Amino acid sequence: MYKIAVMPGDGTGPEVTREAVKVLDAACKKYNIKYETSAFDFGARRYLKTGELLPDAGVEDLKKFDAILLGAIGHPDVKPGILEVGILLKARFSFDQYINLRPVKLYPNVWTPIKDKGPEDIDFVIVRENTGGLYTGVGGVTMKGTPHEIAIQSMVYSRAVVERCIRYAYEYTRKRDRAKTLTLCQKSNVLTNVGDLWVRVHQEVGTSDYPDIKQEYAHVDATTMWMVKNPEWFDVIVTSNMFGDIITDLGAMIQGGMGIAAGGNINPEGLSMFEPIGGSAPKYEGQNVINPLAAIFAGMMMLDTLGEAEAAEAIDKAIFKVMESGKIKSMAAGKMGMSTTQVGDVVADTVATL
Ligand code: IPM
Ligand code: MN
Repeated sequence: MYKIAVMPGDGTGPEVTREAVKVLDAACKKYNIKYETSAFDFGARRYLKTGELLPDAGVEDLKKFDAILLGAIGHPDVKPGILEVGILLKARFSFDQYINLRPVKLYPNVWTPIKDKGPEDIDFVIVRENTGGLYTGVGGVTMKGTPHEIAIQSMVYSRAVVERCIRYAYEYTRKRDRAKTLTLCQKSNVLTNVGDLWVRVHQEVGTSDYPDIKQEYAHVDATTMWMVKNPEWFDVIVTSNMFGDIITDLGAMIQGGMGIAAGGNINPEGLSMFEPIGGSAPKYEGQNVINPLAAIFAGMMMLDTLGEAEAAEAIDKAIFKVMESGKIKSMAAGKMGMSTTQVGDVVADTVATL
């Protein structure tokens, strides 16, 4: 029996989460997987009422669960940064979710801004290191507000932190079993300390423990070019935190945008959290027009990470089939040709009847 913590959050978060759970339910019924959900109300509403973000007591409560499914956080009345740091980053650090897994997959009939590329070209996965580097906040400011102000924010990486991420990426590449190629995305020509550490660990770990996996390297700036020009070259990309943050947004765009892109904040030995990356879209709140596919995709990643590969694959196939049928006209809110609940229904029905 899996215990799933559901954090619907703000804006359209509750609407898309409901559909994700609907599809989860269909997949779990089909494969006889037992689970129960508990709802948590962390998000802007609770913050505006109580001043609380993700309190330490909430972290302790959540530790009793096997996974977290997050809808979205964000509210026009809350200054940018507060919820992100207080909830999202707090969860990542508290649960040591050191991997950010971001599949870049174009489903049929989904519009991509990249001309002449289709689902057979755009299907790779980015493994982003999720708790280290520039996100550690190591640094400081002095002489603030003066012309001599100095601001430092350091890219902090230990061998251990790099190695656990690289090992995860090699394992993932082996399990994925496609082109069996792990591309390291770095900037070793300039980052001669940190970038070089990543390069050596990528080579050493790969050569000694993953001889079946091909090693590739691309500088981060070149990576952005290849992602647009030749996305079919990629199988799995592994990269550090800030580079990963940037290239995963590019990835989201080439796979059709916020209606479909999802990610997992993963602790391979512990508690992971899955989220559609589209945000809370307050202007569509309560209208039943937002696209829930990204949240459904997040639910699929959750099942896969929990080890329920068959059930996850069923959801993937169902999304593929539904998109292939042309029933969903667009990924954009209000332009899908059906409502949020109808999209959830049709994917859930497809899972059930596959
Ligand atoms: C992401 C987001 C976050 C990040 C923000 C909201 C802190 O952009 O998950 O990619 O920078 O990691
Ligand atoms: Mn980001």
